[in-house]
Parts: sequence; C-alpha cells; structure tokens
Amino acid sequence: MKHELVVVLDFGGQYNQLIARRVRECNVYCEVHPYTMPLAEIQAKAPIGIIFTGGPNSVYEENAPSIEKEIFSLGIPVLGICYGAQVMAQSLGGVVRTADAAAAREYGKTPTQYSQNSKLFAGLPETGVSWMSHGDYIETPPDGFRVTAKTIACPVAAMEHAEKRLYALQYPPEVNHTEHGISMLRNFLYQVCSAKGDWTMGDYCRDTIQAVREKVGSGKVLLALSGGVDSSVVAALLKRAIGKQLTCIFVDHGLMRKDEGAEVDAVFAGGEIHFVHVDAEARFLQKLAGVTDPERKRKIIGEEFIRVFEEEAKKIGAVDFLAQGTIYPDVIESGLGAAAVIKSHHNVGGLPDFVDFKEIIEPLRLLFKDEVRQLGRELELPEYLVMRQPFPGPGLAIRIIGEITKEKLDILRDADAIFREEIANEGLSSSISQYFAVLTDMRSVGVMGDGRTYDYTLALRGVTTTDFMTADWARIPYDVLDKISVRIVNEVRCINRIVYDITSKPPATIEWE
Ligand code: XMP
Repeated sequence: MKHELVVVLDFGGQYNQLIARRVRECNVYCEVHPYTMPLAEIQAKAPIGIIFTGGPNSVYEENAPSIEKEIFSLGIPVLGICYGAQVMAQSLGGVVRTADAAAAREYGKTPTQYSQNSKLFAGLPETGVSWMSHGDYIETPPDGFRVTAKTIACPVAAMEHAEKRLYALQYPPEVNHTEHGISMLRNFLYQVCSAKGDWTMGDYCRDTIQAVREKVGSGKVLLALSGGVDSSVVAALLKRAIGKQLTCIFVDHGLMRKDEGAEVDAVFAGGEIHFVHVDAEARFLQKLAGVTDPERKRKIIGEEFIRVFEEEAKKIGAVDFLAQGTIYPDVIESGLGAAAVIKSHHNVGGLPDFVDFKEIIEPLRLLFKDEVRQLGRELELPEYLVMRQPFPGPGLAIRIIGEITKEKLDILRDADAIFREEIANEGLSSSISQYFAVLTDMRSVGVMGDGRTYDYTLALRGVTTTDFMTADWARIPYDVLDKISVRIVNEVRCINRIVYDITSKPPATIEWE
C-alpha cells in the first residue's frame, strides 16, 4: 500500500530526524532527504507536504544551502523551520538580517504571540513559549506573506502565504521546549496538507508481511539473529510472513548478559522457523585468552563471529535472501552531504561479503528505533525483547577491563542482573537510556565479617541520551544506588567495592572499552 508522504528536506539541522519522528507520531509517513534532492524527484514522490529543516548556516554565507525557487510553485504546501524559514523568505524576495544587536538574537525560551486566524495555530492559545535559537532573522516577509507570530526581539517569528500554502516558523516546533509545537506540526499536516493519517504500525506490519511474501515467493531466507531489538523484530516479522523458509542463526559467543541466550531461545526455538543456536562460548574464550587490549578484543570477536556464522551458513547452503535489521537512521543521508557517522562497531553489517545469497531484504529500513519497538509489540514479541537496551556486539567482553575469563563473566553477569533488576523495580528503566555494570581489573582491600578481603571493584554506569553520540550520566537517586551496592556486595562473590561513573560523553564514552 502506498502511504501519504511528507518530504523533509534537510539543511543540516540537528533536529532533522526529530522532525521526521514527530510527523510520523502524527500518523503521517515521512522521509528525510538532502536539500539538494532534484525537484523532479520530489514531484515524482507526490508528497502531500514538504518541510525544510533548520541548519547551521547563514543565508548570506557564500555557498549557503539554497533551494530552487520553483519548489514554491509546485502547489505542494511547504513549512520552513528556522534556517528553512529564512531560505523561504530570501528565495521569495523577503529580507533576512543578521542580528548585530544582542537584542535581536534570541536563545532559549521566548514568550511568543500567535495569530489566532492562522491554520497553523488553530485551536492553540494566543501566547506561548517558543524555543528560539537564531542569529539571523526575517526582517521583512516576501510579498503576499503576512506575519502570524512575533516576539519582543523577532518581528517575524512566523509568516505565511495561506493561498499558496507556504508557512514559516523561526523556531523549531518539534522540540519539547516549544509549547504546543507538536500541535503546530499536526495543524500543518491535517489543516494545511489535508493529511488523512494512514501511517500506523498495524498497517505497516500487514503491508510488510505481504510485501515480503511477494518478494520471497518460495525462496529461502537467512538471518543473523543477535537477540537485540532490531534483529529480533526482523525474525518475528519473517517468522510470521514465511515461517519455515526462514533460517535464523544465533551465534552465542558466551558474552551475553544473564539469561539472554535462553530468552532468545524461548521466543524463537521450537518449530515454526529453522533456528540454529550455535554455542560458541568455548571458541570465543579460547581466542580471547590473555588478551587485554580493547581494540584487539573487538577485532577478535568480530572476526570469530564472522567465521562461526560462515561455517553455519555453509551447512545451510545457498540461500535466496539475506535479511538484515538496518533501520532508518542508518540510511538517512545528511543534508550537508557530510558522510554519515558510522561507528566501526562490530555488528552483522559486514556479512553479505561471504554468504552465498542473491538479494538482501531489510524490512525495518523505513523505521525509527521507537517504531521498531512498536512493530515488535504488534508482532507480540515479549516486552523484555522489545525494550531491550542497546547492547554492543562484543558484549560483556568490553565491560570487563583486562583479561576475560569465564569466572569474571559470571561475576559480571550476576552483578549486572542485580543492577538491572533494581532499576526496573524502582520504575526507572524508561528514564535511563542505557545502564550496565563494568568489572574493573582493580582489586582493593575490604573487610567482610571479621576477615580481610582483596576483591574486585565494580563500576556502575547509567546514561541519558537521545542519539548515543553524546550522553549525560544518569542521576540515579543515592538510596537506589545504595540498595544496589548492598545487594551486589552481599550476593555476588569477589566484589567488595562499588563505584558509580559520573562522567558524561564526551569526554568519556558510554562503554568503558
Ligand atoms: P560508546 O561507548 O562509543 O557507545 O559511547 C555508544 C553506543 O554504541 C554501543 N556500542 C556498540 N554497539 N557494536 C554495537 O553494535 C559495538 O561494537 C559497540 N560498541 C559500543 C554502546 O553500547 C552505546 O549504546
């Protein structure tokens, strides 16, 4: 089924993906493309609306990103946001100025007055707070436009040409700091673009299952199942779509968290698909014996993973399709043409090189992470799989500083399980983006009962973040930390000291190795 589409043209703004997510939350499908996308291609997609994002440039800079003026004459509604608003103003003959006087620059929460008879602000209060962050501002709107919002310093906080369905906002409506911002986006979609709202996960699920069936026919599909959210959702979807034609290979490297392997088995083993659980713990531990350098560990695990997968894939023979859990943030190309930041992380992205297959299928390619979770629920995956935190490919190997042994892995697994259990008990799981324990290689003196101990120090790490590129340490309440600390030293052997990591990223990274 073809969905209504909104095209977001990216001018390099930091919120480009957030805009797209907000639009989708309003049940309208939307795609992010670079601002350089040719007009003919945009038209061919027949979008119901176009949104320009913000961006770091000034319209006055040489080679500043700009847009062909014809885009405003296609009869497709356009909403310009921040830099996108200035691009619209300047292209159509308005005046954009750089604010020399500090007074005209605005940063942060700014009281704003909205016109009541604009479709964008329909049903919203006349005043509110918008999140301003601009050096340049629109001084004079182009001919035919009227001003629909202002602040003390900003003469044109919003403008519109209602007949041509062109709208511009000087502030980002997509951020939570802008009061009623989401309603403004919703108004643009439903009042201006006349959206019907046909993007729901139930529909997506049915359509994708159908599309997979059509594409695969009676062919064979292979999937590397890691137990993470993305590959689990792909597995569940394919299981429903093609059942026995699917083979999942789950390489258990012995570096998983407590009970994780069994949880994956519980959902996927048992008849409806071909499920291969490869117990490769001994192999991995042997390769890792004596290795302490983090990069060496990562490399060894990545290579060994591929080798194991390859051996298993060979047993299955040629397959028609290789399925992958690629998600939308991995495929969005930045509007400024900067190469997407892709980490040299170990995951299954490199597999196609050596597996004998004809085509790739990527059923999550259009989805954001929160949508992948929604789809998982639609497919009735258990909540512990759907809400699973990001877990690095090299697993606990990069959460044990120094040499990895089975004994240390078991100690860490037990401590980490207590940490996660207590965070869940306190109802804090959804407010902390990622949290885990790290076993350091430091030992220190302690006292237990009447005896001296000389045991490991365990570090707890908890962070809040939206994109995992930067992160802040989570303010877990002291009494919760206390409870966790008491439980761990009492219940887990060989740990006599617990520390909490209070560094943000940067300068630290989220993982310790
Ligand atoms: P860092 O430590 O770089 O981690 O701040 C950022 C996010 O990436 C995860 N991470 C990985 N994910 N393979 C992955 O799939 C890896 O090798 C890997 N290393 C780190 C980390 O858990 C955090 O969410």
